[in-house]
Amino acid sequence: MTARASGFHPAAMRILTGLQPSGKLHIGNYFGAIEPAVRLQEMGEAFYFIADYHAMTSSHDPAALRDNVRELAVDFLACGLDPARAVFFRQSAVPEVNELAWILSTVCPMGLLNKCHSFKDKTAQGISPNHGLFAYPVLMAADILLYDANQVPVGKDQKQHLEVARDLAVKLNETYGEGTVIVPEPIIRDDTAVVTGLDGRKMSKSYSNTLPIFGEEKELRKLVMRIKTDSTPVEEPKPTDNSVILALHPLFANESQHASLVHAFRQGGTGYGDLKKQLADAYWDFFAPMRRRREEILADRGYVERVLAEGATRARAEAAKVLDRVRRAVGLA
Ligand code: ADP
Ligand code: TRP
Repeated sequence: MTARASGFHPAAMRILTGLQPSGKLHIGNYFGAIEPAVRLQEMGEAFYFIADYHAMTSSHDPAALRDNVRELAVDFLACGLDPARAVFFRQSAVPEVNELAWILSTVCPMGLLNKCHSFKDKTAQGISPNHGLFAYPVLMAADILLYDANQVPVGKDQKQHLEVARDLAVKLNETYGEGTVIVPEPIIRDDTAVVTGLDGRKMSKSYSNTLPIFGEEKELRKLVMRIKTDSTPVEEPKPTDNSVILALHPLFANESQHASLVHAFRQGGTGYGDLKKQLADAYWDFFAPMRRRREEILADRGYVERVLAEGATRARAEAAKVLDRVRRAVGLA
């Protein structure tokens, strides 16, 4: 997608998205969130942050939080986030977001939050129904409105949260005057972008069916070998419908490489072990440049901290402007 095709002039685009630091990134995260964010940073002013306050709604492990934040920062940078283009920061480095969240919560009807399925889903999974989890969409709205973001790329699971953010922006403007905050537009990724997991379901850490972006070669290759296949004998043609191998391969291979793998399926004579090896090779090669970049980042002591500190300074300057406008509008200043 070019800026022109998306209908927006680059200068008018303020793109913002957050990612929760919740463990190792997998290729579903890469193709669904990271790679699109990296592409979008070319098209406007991008604000990308690590949603550490949000992570606290479902886990209370300080060491894990610190590790996950750092790991996500390293991995996002390794995957191509360019700190010269995008403002990259930790959500909690701009505590002003809590003040805006409070202001928004005073115009947020309870019914709006009661409707949110993510709260119900998470409590059904056994996460304690704390207030933070319930108010999660209000903080997320504050994340967006605090930076005057007008374009917010997210997965389908976040669609309802974006609707809450829009509703709260409209409500604040109705209550305190047009222009108090900018009403954001969601960019919802479509279903075709969903990456299949090793067992054929959607790839997700909750299903333990993921292929990580980074890791030991041996381990990663072993995971590919775990892909579910049927018992078609080596010499016979293999079914191409619903094949996890063929669903994943185009992510890493060009058209002619993919066509030759499909041909190998149809022709017979190649066992699943060999077919999986071809997938494993393509997967390993695809991430080679990111792995190299990751090594460089890890070798540069203090680099990640410097990037995040600089990002926080830039984000805070923007947040201060918007918060000042909101404080005046509501009568706090
Ligand atoms: P998980 O399902 O593993 O818990 P998250 O919910 O933390 O993943 O997802 C983080 C981001 O990665 C979201 O933007 C989400 O839309 C995207 N994402 C996660 N899994 C996939 C997938 N299988 N295909 C495409 N995008 C995905
Ligand atoms: N809730 C989002 C997720 O789990 C992360 C997030 C927090 C976010 N604040 C945001 C995404 C603001 C976009 C905009 O994926």
